[in-house]
This record gives sequence, structure tokens and C-alpha cells, in this order.
Amino acid sequence: MAQKDVGNKIPIYKLKTTDEVMKYYDEWGDKDKYNKDMVDWNYTGPKETAEIFNKYEKNKDTLIFDAGCGTGLVGMELKKYSFKNFHGADLSQTLIDTVPKDLYQKLVKVDLNKPIEVEENFYGGVMCVGTFTFGHVKPNALDEFIRITKPGGLICFTINEGIHE
Ligand SMILES: C[S@@+](CC[C@H](N)C(=O)[O-])C[C@H]1O[C@@H](n2cnc3c(N)ncnc32)[C@H](O)[C@@H]1O
Repeated sequence: MAQKDVGNKIPIYKLKTTDEVMKYYDEWGDKDKYNKDMVDWNYTGPKETAEIFNKYEKNKDTLIFDAGCGTGLVGMELKKYSFKNFHGADLSQTLIDTVPKDLYQKLVKVDLNKPIEVEENFYGGVMCVGTFTFGHVKPNALDEFIRITKPGGLICFTINEGIHE
């Protein structure tokens, strides 16, 4: 990771409330800055997790919940493996608004630290990339992911090692 990443990411890690996190991403998404920074930083989270998901999920029609979908980078990577059914959820409406049109069948602005308004055993799989980190989504969300995923479905996520324990 380049040195400038650290300098840029520290402000996010210091944010205390969900409201602060939301405002931060709303500003970051303006003028496509988030996507440009991710290219600049050589951010590989979506690519790597999509590769792992594809390795174990053979049903290309499965309905995938992208938790903390941001600008849709995970959907874009999954599409390369011919997955096509995505629902996305994120805290930032600005980021949601930049998701490529028609990539996700459904996009909702939600706080994933609250109960997810989806019935149990609904999704074939869950992706959650870059979202379990300082001040973002808390461990309880994992229980919700399990609840909304069908038995045998995959839950594929990253965790910032600083909050792993
Ligand atoms: C590092 S970005 C990752 C976005 C996308 N998954 C990616 O890999 O590009 C973290 C995302 O988590 C979202 N987020 C942070 N806290 C959240 C919360 N409480 N509920 C829902 N989304 C949240 C942010 O809005 C942001 O889109």
C-alpha cells in the first residue's frame, strides 16, 4: 500500500459516529473521487474477494447481497465471472448514485448496524468488502448476514486487521 494511502485513510478511522462516516463518504463520492482514489491506490479488495467467491460458488444465477456496496466495485468484479443478480446496500447515497446503471437490480441506503429489513434465508450469498473497519460496520452485522443467507450460501468479507479481534 502506498504511503499516501495511510495519510488519506486516517481521517476515516478517527470518525466516531455513523453520521460522520456517512458524510465522509458522501463527500468522497463527489465527482467520482472515491473511484479515482481506488484506482490510484491499487485497491484490490473487490477483485480478490470476487475471485474467492467465484472459486466456491458455482451457481452464476445466485442472488448476492453486496453489503456496503459503495460505488459497485464488487458487482463489477463479480460480473466478470458471469454473476448477474445483485442487491446492494450502503450508507452513502452519493456512492450509491454512482453505481453503474443496471448493474444491481436493487440499491438501498441503509445503516448496516441496524437490523436488515430482509426475510431470513433470502440471499444465495453475501459480499462485504472494506466495510468491517474502524467506525464502520460492527460485528452484529455478521449475525444479520447469516440470518438473511440461505443454508449453504457463502458469506465473503474482509476485515481490517486492526479491528479483527
Ligand atoms: C471502503 S468502502 C468499500 C465500498 C465497496 N464495498 C468497495 O469495496 O469499493 C466502505 C463502505 O462502507 C459503507 N459503510 C460504512 N458504514 C456503513 C454502515 N453503518 N452501513 C452501511 N454502509 C456503511 C461506506 O459508505 C462505504 O461505501
